[in-house]
Amino acid sequence: MTQDELKQSVARAARDYVADRLPIGAILGVGTGSTANFFIDEIAGIKDRLGGTVASSEATAKRLAGHGMRVLDLNDVDAMGIYVDGADEIDGSMAMIKGGGGALTREKIVAAVAATFVCICDASKLVAVMGKFPLPVEVIPMARAHVARELAKLGGTPKLREGMVTDNGNLILDVHGLAITDPVGLEEQINQIVGVVTNGLFARRGADVLLLATMDGVQTRVR
Ligand code: 5RP
Repeated sequence: MTQDELKQSVARAARDYVADRLPIGAILGVGTGSTANFFIDEIAGIKDRLGGTVASSEATAKRLAGHGMRVLDLNDVDAMGIYVDGADEIDGSMAMIKGGGGALTREKIVAAVAATFVCICDASKLVAVMGKFPLPVEVIPMARAHVARELAKLGGTPKLREGMVTDNGNLILDVHGLAITDPVGLEEQINQIVGVVTNGLFARRGADVLLLATMDGVQTRVR
């Protein structure tokens, strides 16, 4: 199976998960990235069961709307049953690195509202220790150099993601060379740096369910 076929298989499994567990008429949160895109295409087939969707990026909102799905403002939503999104890395505690697509802030906000976070990815994303994938940190533009210096003190090598402006008008620093043995602690530490909007560690609120695409089928893990 190719990586795209693995993503397709986990997207289908996530559609079935949503169809089985999300009450008819409830709100679904939808993530960002190539795996999430496969999922969006899959849920087009069950759109009549959904009360509406909340998108974690402008790109996702556009794709959902392109399928004729209702996209709601998060401020108009009182409760969200399930949020489905990909990850760049996930460890055994269901902590994740996210933000490879630059949507980490909105993803974290939508995830905070959802009752259940369902992570969908292929087996290459499951790691023992996170950090091989550079950790994205969204920063206020005028704080870029200050935040980069502070991140370097934590042992990483921050690099500006060239040509990237987030949906919120900010910049992304990708932090290379970290070995993340304490994801919750590091998430909290980076959040304390003035000028940081969000960091891509989703550890305090990790995934509740992991649907993992392997060559032998999709495995389900529950936290
Ligand atoms: C976007 C994300 C994505 O979920 C993450 O980058 C994984 O993307 P893909 O499914 O394309 O591998 O966090 O900000």
